Formats: sequence, C-alpha cells, structure tokens
Amino acid sequence: MTPHADTLALIERLSAFTGIRMHIDDASKLRSAVAVRERATHCHDTDAYLAMLQHLPDQAALEQERRALSAALIPLESFFFRDAGQVALLRKRLLPACLRERRASRTLRIWSAGCSTGEEAYSLAIMVAELLPLSAGWSIRIIGSDINVQALQCARAGVYPDWSFRGVPDSLRNIYFFKQREGWEILPALRAIVRFCADDLRAGAAPDLAAGEFDLILCRNVLMYYRDDALPRIVNRLTLALAPAGRLLVAHNELAIGCFPALVRQVFAESAVYRRSDSMPEKVAASPSPAALPGISRSRPAAMPAPRQHPPVTVALATPVPLPEALSYAWQLADQGAMAQANACCEQLLARTPLEPGAYYLLAHLAQESGDLQRARTLLEKVIYLEPHYVIAYLELCALYNLACEHLRASRMRRSAKRLLEGMPADAPLGTRGELKAGELLATLRGEQNAIVMYS
Ligand SMILES: C[S@@+](CC[C@H](N)C(=O)[O-])C[C@H]1O[C@@H](n2cnc3c(N)ncnc32)[C@H](O)[C@@H]1O
Repeated sequence: MTPHADTLALIERLSAFTGIRMHIDDASKLRSAVAVRERATHCHDTDAYLAMLQHLPDQAALEQERRALSAALIPLESFFFRDAGQVALLRKRLLPACLRERRASRTLRIWSAGCSTGEEAYSLAIMVAELLPLSAGWSIRIIGSDINVQALQCARAGVYPDWSFRGVPDSLRNIYFFKQREGWEILPALRAIVRFCADDLRAGAAPDLAAGEFDLILCRNVLMYYRDDALPRIVNRLTLALAPAGRLLVAHNELAIGCFPALVRQVFAESAVYRRSDSMPEKVAASPSPAALPGISRSRPAAMPAPRQHPPVTVALATPVPLPEALSYAWQLADQGAMAQANACCEQLLARTPLEPGAYYLLAHLAQESGDLQRARTLLEKVIYLEPHYVIAYLELCALYNLACEHLRASRMRRSAKRLLEGMPADAPLGTRGELKAGELLATLRGEQNAIVMYS
C-alpha cells in the first residue's frame, strides 16, 4: 500500500525538525508522539501544531519544543549493567586505566550522555565503587544527562523495579540497593557521586558538561536514533567534552565506522573505544586542541594507533596452534593496535583453515579500522555465507549498509539478525568471547524498533 502523502510529509517535516531517523512503518508512533505534544501545547490538531512550530517566538522556544518532541519520540529503554561485553571492558580495563591515569590528581569525571532513567550512570558508580573505596580521598563525579526531563526525575529518585535489574545477580543488587515498597533504592553513598542534568546533545553544553572535562563518556543507544545530518553536532559535543586522556564508548550497534574523525579508535574484543589521539601511548598524530578540533564529518578517524612492537607473527604460528588460540592471539594483537600483525595472523590462519568465519570477521574489523569499508563489507558477507548464524556479522553489515545509504539492505540484515536471535536461548553467548548474550542483544534491537527510522 502506498503510504498516505500526508503521513510522508509529516515524517519528512518532523524528521528534519528533530534530526531523528523516521520510518514510514512507524508512522503510528510518530502520530502518538505528536498527539502528546499537541495536548501539551494546546494545539487542536496536527496542522495547528505544525503551524505553531513555524511561529514560535524565539530560538529558545524552538529548541524547547524540539527537545520535547524528541523526548516523546525516543524510547527510554535502559537497564543496569547493559551490554555484558562493554561492562566487562569497563570493569577490567577502562575504569582501572582511568584510575591509574588520574592517580596524581585523584579526580575522576564520567559522563553518561543520554542516561535515560539513570541505570547507566548508577552502574558506573557501582563499578567505580568496586574498584575504589569511596572514602579513598578521590573526587569522583558521574554526570547523567538527558533531554527527557521525566526520565531525569526517575534517575534522581534512584528507585528501580526488578525489571531494571534483568540479568543482574541478586547478590550484586542487594549490596548496592535497599528494598523499598516501590522498588530498589540506590545507596546514598553512590547517589552522592552521581548528578543528573538536562542537556540536549544537539545544542550547546549545559554548565555541568564543560569541554575537556571527562575522563570517560558513555553515550550508548543514542546516536542510532539520529540522521546522518544531525550526527555531526552530537559527535562534536562528545569529542570536545573529552579530557586529554579521555575515552568514549558508544553502543555496539553504533560503532559506525569513522563516526568520530577527531578521535582514535581502539579495538578490544568486547568493543571499540574512541580516544583523544593525543592520549595514545604511542602518539601518532598531533592532536588538535579541543578548541581547534576539525569540523566533524563521517570519514574515517584522522589517526590510527601506531602498532606496538610484537614478536613476528610467523614465529607465533610457526607450529600449528589450535584454531581458537590462534584466533584469540590475533584478537590480542588487534586489541593492542598491532593491526598489521593481526592481519598477518588471520591470513596465516586462513591458509590452514580457509573456511574459518572467525578469521574473516576479525579481518573485517581490521579493514574497518583501516577505512576500507568496501573490503569490510565483502568480508562480513563472507562470514555470513560461511556461518549463516553469525548474528553480529549481520548487525555490522547493517551498520555498513546504512552508512552507504543502502537502507533497505541494512534493514534486511537487521531483520535477519532479529530472527536469528529470537530462535536462540536468551543466555546464548555471542561476540568474539561470548561477552554478549542473545537476549540482551534482542532487547536492544526491539528497543531500536521503537525508534522511527526513515529510509530516505
Ligand atoms: C534508549 S535510551 C538509552 C539509555 C542508556 N544510554 C542505555 O544505553 O541504556 C536513549 C536515551 O537518549 C536520550 N536522548 C536522545 N536524544 C538525546 C539528545 N539529543 N540529548 C540528550 N539525550 C538524548 C533519550 O531521551 C533516551 O533517554
């Protein structure tokens, strides 16, 4: 059925106004969000609402309505310790590294951008508390920000239903929360280090979110809602907010290649992490000062980490090493920025076992790292050909197709991934080290589906 022209026009108009991706299939969700705003602004119908948008008295009123409509459109889906792989990475590597690097000043600044109802910010507080007694004389501040003011009220209340703890062991929840009639309340000592503030990532920074401030930024499951033309502002805000050694984490499905051209991408098996290039152990490019960061475009990162010195791979694989070990060695090399060696390792592995999808998958990552997106696509397509259940490969292809504006192919990939996940046990391990659970990824995809995505 051809969509009604009015609906298409409405989608077009409000997608351009908010910068949010919109899909014709989700027109009914758009209509309900608009209905919410019609009621709030006392407009009697959609035409009146659209006319009102044209006659707002000033820029501030326009921004306010943009925020309110966006908040009505974007789902608030969040839960504690979301994404087991990234959580493991934060716990084992990123947070300990941040603490090590900030040892002299004993300060740690973390930003959960697009924090929704606060689960992400409090999860970070718990992870920090696990690593560092809060009485250890450090100044620790975790800021959660969001455009949705109702979500921020819930975040400040810090009381959560059981559903927010799905996948979290009761033992962990019982240490950091106490049971109230309405749910589980975060301990005051943790609440004390977390602050929440309203902020729109598309606009200028709120006072609490100054440039150059943050050692670690999480902005997960936010970018995916925005159109390509809206992303540069957000990317710029996040980039500028990083402190010199700062790290930025986005969600798995948002690892849109080259999205942060002023930052360096470090690949770990669990996730990629973006860093200011002036903070890499081996300085590879003169880092622009925050004020001088270039305009953001969707090209590949300006700089790549220089490979560290590793033993030649030929030595490592001279004697036949069991396949899993060889692959995990190749991942280790990639984790450490030794891209050429990781590549060579994969090639050697494929010479022995030419049908190993895991090796093609790592090669695809390395190709993305080097900016060769076409090769990355071909390799990922090969992964799926060899192993049609390789869910992550479907999702990465989806991101690559989207990047090339091949939205229909992208959505086919996403649908296939979803179908596969629906047929798997919720705790089935995914990812290179099983760090991601099928149920968790499925929940993310379902959350995304609530977003309105437009094929342009
Ligand atoms: C799906 S939730 C993700 C919550 C959390 N980061 C997580 O991964 O669990 C997306 C959140 O991003 C917020 N958001 C969307 N656009 C934003 C913007 N421009 N500025 C700040 N927050 C935004 C939404 O209001 C929503 O709370």
